[in-house]
Amino acid sequence: MEISKEQNKPEDWHLVGPVSAFRDIGQDEKGCRVLSGCKTLSIPKTDDPEKSRGNRFSDLSDQVLVFKYKGFLHAIDNQCPHSAFPLKQGNVFDIEDLGAGIRCFRHGWRFDLFTGKGDRGSHKLSLWDIELRDPPSLETDEIPGSTDKEVWVRRPPQT
Ligand code: FES
Repeated sequence: MEISKEQNKPEDWHLVGPVSAFRDIGQDEKGCRVLSGCKTLSIPKTDDPEKSRGNRFSDLSDQVLVFKYKGFLHAIDNQCPHSAFPLKQGNVFDIEDLGAGIRCFRHGWRFDLFTGKGDRGSHKLSLWDIELRDPPSLETDEIPGSTDKEVWVRRPPQT
């Protein structure tokens, strides 16, 4: 997960939901399947004329996959960089110390969830920026005992 401190256009950020909506798949006894605890959002690139006109066939390349693994929230492209398979069908695994990776279900390629680096060739997974924000109701009305934040994501500039 990358926490961005950079300020940019507010419209670049998209609300995914409350942090409490994400079950930690690191607790999953069935092998950390992403599908069981993830959310996917379709966020078309606004600079693509075809997509901004509502091309319904452009879905997978527009999707961000968000999930929590061992306490860390991750937001990544749902499309595998190798051959466009949905990564939400993959499994998450540990990489020495505090690292973590995702294994694509289709051909078994692996990608580091903190760097995006793949284990084969030069394929790299796109990591989205994540921000945790206080919900508007917390800013105006004090809700005793409520500490739930909102998860917001932003497409990385290079994709
Ligand atoms: S499509 Fe993901 S490893 Fe081939």
